[in-house]
This record gives sequence, structure tokens and C-alpha cells, in this order.
Amino acid sequence: MHAISVTGLRKSFGDHVVLDGLDLSVHSGTVFALLGANGAGKTTTVKILSTLLSADAGDARVAGHDLAREPDAVRAAIGVTGQFSAVDTLLTGEENLLLMADLNHLGRGARRARVAQLLDQFDLVDAAKKPAMSYSGGMRRRLDLAMTLVGSPRVIFLDEPTTGLDPRSRRTMWQIIRDLVAGGVTIFLTTQYLEEADELADRIAVLDGGKLVAEGTAAELKRRIPGGHVRLRFADQHGLDTAMSVLGQASRDNDALALRVPSDGSLRALKALIDQLDHRSIQVDELSVHTPDLDDVFLALTDQKVTR
Ligand SMILES: Nc1ncnc2c1ncn2[C@@H]1O[C@H](COP(=O)(O)OP(=O)(O)O)[C@@H](O)[C@H]1O
Ligand SMILES: [Mg+2]
Repeated sequence: MHAISVTGLRKSFGDHVVLDGLDLSVHSGTVFALLGANGAGKTTTVKILSTLLSADAGDARVAGHDLAREPDAVRAAIGVTGQFSAVDTLLTGEENLLLMADLNHLGRGARRARVAQLLDQFDLVDAAKKPAMSYSGGMRRRLDLAMTLVGSPRVIFLDEPTTGLDPRSRRTMWQIIRDLVAGGVTIFLTTQYLEEADELADRIAVLDGGKLVAEGTAAELKRRIPGGHVRLRFADQHGLDTAMSVLGQASRDNDALALRVPSDGSLRALKALIDQLDHRSIQVDELSVHTPDLDDVFLALTDQKVTR
């Protein structure tokens, strides 16, 4: 079951092509991270998928509804927290939430109960009666997200939810997002932070030059980049020599009795390697897998490679 599926999505502003044919799909109950530098087109994608902006071409289904033909049904099923806050800073946190409850046509009794529950869930009970102007950045983001949740959306778009937050507030936000997913909602997240995508996302897509230049799990993306290797340490010189002759393309570190073998780090590659060593009864003291991190992936995949 896909909560979001998109084919051939295009958008230009004048002659500036921002989205040059996006295809993507997001399974229900998972977190999808759209990763891209400033200006890559993340917000444009979120705005289109949440009906705030129309695409030039392409098809999309969101929460089971066709974006172009049933925008109202899409709107009723989703929540959007924009890059720039929807919080009215002159109102208190509670008033902001009550306003959202009214916009969502919650009944008299339901609105109070829902607002109280959200204030509690987002740790805003003490601040509820204070104007949002006095809130810290982290509190404002939490209130913003709480406002999105008043209507109990099944699909939530979070556009750079932690940009500008301090590390502690960022971790709080991550936990809130994990809790939401545990409750069954689908999250479409944009971020400039590789670490954030790595922490939260089931699947990551990298947006660059109007196209998705890579898509997969964090582990799959890391495996695509050269530089991954397995390091083997042996009990003695004999083990090292035999392994070197068996494995061929490895580089050796005689002092450490270790070999560095190029590898994508996949289970299949590891099994083949271990089988080869086992076959010759070579004793391995230690084996470690080194995958490139997401920073390597990002630099290798995006235009920044040109300047390296
Ligand atoms: N309404 C608009 N009119 C003209 N250009 C726009 C408009 N919205 C966005 N852009 C341009 O489209 C590009 C992508 O913007 P955006 O989707 O906001 O990127 P991101 O969210 O990844 O930083 C940028 O170059 C931006 O200047
Ligand atoms: Mg943006």
C-alpha cells in the first residue's frame, strides 16, 4: 500500500526548471526523506503534493486520492508543517490549537479534549497560556506540528522540521516523529541534514538538478559509493600471507597483520569473503565492515562533485 506515489512530476518557474520529472513512492506507515541542498526543489515538491501549488505535468496519488482530480479529499487526509511556521505568535499555544480545531470542524467537546491531549503530548502544558511569541524555537516547532495533528492526518509532510533547532530540540523532534510513525502515520520529510535522514527515514531520495539522483535505504545508498571495505586481522603472518594470495586485490598492513579488502559491505559479499577464507582454513581474529557515510554519498551524487 502506497501512501504517496508520483510519476513524471514537473514544475518550472518561468524558464527555471525546478522539478524535471520526479518518480517516487512511499509505503504507508513509513518515513520518506527527500534530501537536497538549499534551492534543490524540496519545498516545491511538498507544496505540490499537499495541493498548495499545481504541477506542470505528472500524476500523483496521496492518501489514496488523485491529486489533480480530488484535491479536497487529499487535503482532508494530510497535514503539512511548512518550513516557515504557521504559528500566530500573538496567540497563546492553546489558542493556536483551538483555532486549528475550529478550522477542522471539531465538535465543542472534542476540540477541548484534543487540544489538551496535544498540549500534553508535545510537552506544552506549562506554556499553554503564554503567547507563542515567548516560546523558544523548539517549542514553536512543537506547537506547529501539534497544530498539524489536530485533524488527525494519515499522511504528514514535514518541510525541514529541524532546521535551525539546537541539537537537543532536534532530538526531541526526532522522537516525536518516531512516535507518530509508531502510531501508523506516513511521514514525508525534507531535510538538508544527512544525519536526520539516516536517523529517521526508511527510504531516502536525493534531489539534485531537478531529478532524483539516488533512492534507497541509507545502507543501500552508502553501498553505492566506492571506498567501502572490509578489514581483516589475522592471528599470524602465515594467515595474512595465505589470505593475501587467496583474495588477490587487497592491500596489506604487515605491522597490524591486517588486510583491507574492497567491498560493498553487502551480506552477499561478506558471505563470499568468509567462505573463501573458511575454505582455506584461514584463521581470522577480527573482521570489520567500513561503509562510507552519507556525507560521502551526498558529495558523490550531487553537483558538488564537480568542484571536488
Ligand atoms: N514562487 C516561485 N517563483 C519563482 N521561483 C521559485 C518560486 N518558488 C521557488 N522558486 C525557486 O525554485 C527553486 C527551488 O526552491 P525550493 O523548492 O524552495 O527549494 P528548497 O526547498 O529545496 O530549498 C529555487 O531556485 C527557488 O528560488
Ligand atoms: Mg525549502
